[in-house]
This record gives sequence, structure tokens and C-alpha cells, in this order.
Amino acid sequence: MNYDIVVVGSGFFGLTIAERCANELGLKVLVIDKRDHIGGNAYSETDPVTGIEVHTYGAHLFHTSNERVWRYVNRFTSFTPYVHHVYTTHDGVVYPMPINLGTINQFFHASYTPDEARALIAEQAGELAGQDPQNLNDKGISLIGRPLYEAFIKDYTGKQWQTDPKDLPASVISRLPVRYTYDNRYFNDTYEGLPTHGYTAWLETMVDSPDIDVLLSTDFFDESQPYHRAALVGRVPIVYTGPIDRYFDYSAGALAWRTIDFTTEYPETGDFQGTAVMNYPDLDRDYTRIIEPRHFHPERDYPADKTVIMKEYSRFAEEGDEPYYPVGTPEDRRRLLAYRDLAAREEGVVFGGRLGTYQYLDMHAAIGSALSVVDNVIVPHVRDGVPFD
Ligand code: FDA
Repeated sequence: MNYDIVVVGSGFFGLTIAERCANELGLKVLVIDKRDHIGGNAYSETDPVTGIEVHTYGAHLFHTSNERVWRYVNRFTSFTPYVHHVYTTHDGVVYPMPINLGTINQFFHASYTPDEARALIAEQAGELAGQDPQNLNDKGISLIGRPLYEAFIKDYTGKQWQTDPKDLPASVISRLPVRYTYDNRYFNDTYEGLPTHGYTAWLETMVDSPDIDVLLSTDFFDESQPYHRAALVGRVPIVYTGPIDRYFDYSAGALAWRTIDFTTEYPETGDFQGTAVMNYPDLDRDYTRIIEPRHFHPERDYPADKTVIMKEYSRFAEEGDEPYYPVGTPEDRRRLLAYRDLAAREEGVVFGGRLGTYQYLDMHAAIGSALSVVDNVIVPHVRDGVPFD
């Protein structure tokens, strides 16, 4: 074995581990990925028709308040000053999201002050006062009142889950943010922006080291290739960022995910919707939102007469689909605990990333979590011989 460590999966979690092991610890690293490109879900590519950078696995906006992560990522890329905003088309009218004073005043055709709006929403949310909401519908009403919930949340959530919100557990939402100012920045973080030269350039810089080898189109469970599970486990430290249930051959059952189908269209215009993300919360359309990626980079010299859009359709993932968002039913949580037990006993393998831990992680969280694994597991192992697990 020519490698000191093998990383399974080249998403942000895996690449952060690989980069730190090579450049900070001087280890020889092998990264394998079953896809034919690095970067996991953050990967982007140039649309062949328009030349516009498209985020292949859904819109990816970088944002963080974590100083360490921000310093770390700036080693590999600079960021544009892009600030993310989302709009939503309800009943033929466009509103700013997340719900803020602008949304409220537009919706109620009013000019409420922050205090007046707060009092109105509190009154409307009081409809179910004293009751413990048993489903998502009641929870939504008790958080922001029926009018706003039914306009902006109810059917959107129903489309996301392909399930009537009355049949979804209240736990699907813990809070629905309402801002009593006109601030409609989508993220609250200290830092945000998009990588100046695109995600793929950023990701490639992370693995640009003579101590990192990358093997693509290589599945860790494919025994016909040399770097598979049975050949490696126990022989070399492994950081595994694939699905945790797959690693244990689904012995405690498959964990449930939601997935998204994307359709790509080329409307005959240079600007289809005037913004990057437009939500469609009503039932008159099957899709949940439309992404127009040209708006992620207004600073770029994109063609003025062409554009590309992606419509997003949400559904439960079946075998072979891309797992995007963990469903997290009580059954899933029971299964996850069983897998965590197995993972704790699997010597020489560290499980990480969104698939390896079955949780939604933003990019900054995946990177921050990988930096912690380097600090808490890999450095003690390399410097002091502490067992790798
Ligand atoms: P990731 O899934 O990226 O990488 C895992 C890798 O492991 C994949 O490349 C996969 O091919 C590989 N793999 C799996 N099984 C394997 C096997 N058996 N053998 C070899 N390789 C294997 N975040 C954010 O900050 N802002 C945003 O706007 C968004 N937007 C967004 C939209 C959508 C639709 C999704 C689903 C997610 C986001 N994210 C996001 C989250 C972001 O995608 C996430 O933080 C990173 O993907 C996490 O990186 P990981 O390395 O954990 O997983």
C-alpha cells in the first residue's frame, strides 16, 4: 500500500481531509470517488449551449459565520460579493422571501410598522393557542398564522414532501423565520459569496498536490477494482464519506432520503426571471422552484441573448436516485443509531460528511466538521499513535 490514508468520496468533507493530510501532515493520500468528477454535490460545469456555469446538483451558495472555515476556504478561491435573495410567486404576485416586513405589507396591502406587523402575526398565530400541534399544518399555523402559512408554506412544503402537510409530523419544521424589517438577505451569516472562478476551479485547487492521487469512477464496494472495502479496511486508515447504510450492507435497513429531479430549459430570452431563484409555492405547478444560474454571476460576461433555467421537482428517493435530503422518520433515527453503533466498532474507519452521518450539512458545516476530524482524530493518530477511529 503506497498510501498513508484513503478518503472515500471527493465532496467538500473528503477533499478537506485530503488537503489537510497532504499539505499539513505530509501524508500520501488516495481519494476515490464513484462519480466521474470531484467535488460531490458542489460540483459545477459550464452549460454547453450558453457558456453559463451551472450547479449540476442544485444551487450552491457559500455562506458561513465560522472564521476558521472562512480563512480556510480563502486559501483556495476568492469570492464574489454575491448576496443571495429569493423571491416567490404566489397567486400571480411576486414576494420577497424569507417572509419579512416587505412580504407582509405586500400580502396584506398594508403599511404596518414592525410592531404592528408583529402584533398581527401573533394574533393570527394564536388561532390554535393552547393546542399542541400534532402535524405540520397545525404547527405552521401556530408559528406564523394561517394566512401567511397557507400562502407561502403549506403547498410548497406539500410539494417538497409529496405529502399533504396534515399528514406530515410537526417536527418537520421547528421554526419559520419572519423578519420584522425589510431585510430580505436570504442568509444571516457574516460571510457569503460565490467562488470567483467557479466551484470546480476551487475544488481542483484543493487536490492540487503531489501527495494526493484521485481515482474517479471508482466505487469503494466494487471488488473488481483494487481499492475496495475488503482490500483496504484494517490495512490503511480510511475516511468514508459515502452512505453509512451502504457501508454496512443495509443490515439495519435503508435510510430514507428525498431527491430532486431537474429539467433544463433554454427560454428564448437573455433573462428569464431577473433573479437566481424563484419559488413556486402554489399547486398550479408541479415544480418547487426555478433556478436561473446566470444571476449567480452578474459580473461575468455571459451572452445577453441566451439563458438557461432549471426547474426542480422534489420527491422521495428510490434505489439508484441521488440522496439529497435525509427524511429522518423515527424509523430512520432508530436505524441510524444502529449504524452509529456499528461505525463506532469499525476500527480504522472514520465516517463523515452528509452521507456518512445521514444529516443535511451546508458546505461550511461539512468543511468545519472535516477540520475537526483532522484535529481530533487524524493529528493524534499521526503524531501520537492514537487508534484511528
Ligand atoms: P457530497 O455528497 O458532496 O460528497 C460525497 C461523495 O462521496 C460524492 O462525490 C459521492 O460520489 C461519493 N461516494 C458516495 N459513495 C461512494 C462509493 N461507494 N465509492 C466512492 N465514492 C462514493 N450547501 C451550502 O452550503 N449552500 C447551498 O446552497 C447548498 N445547496 C444544496 C442544494 C442541494 C440540492 C443539496 C442536496 C445540497 C446543498 N448543499 C448546500 C449542501 C452541500 O451539497 C453539502 O454541504 C456538501 O455536498 C457536503 O459534502 P460531503 O463531502 O459531505 O458530501
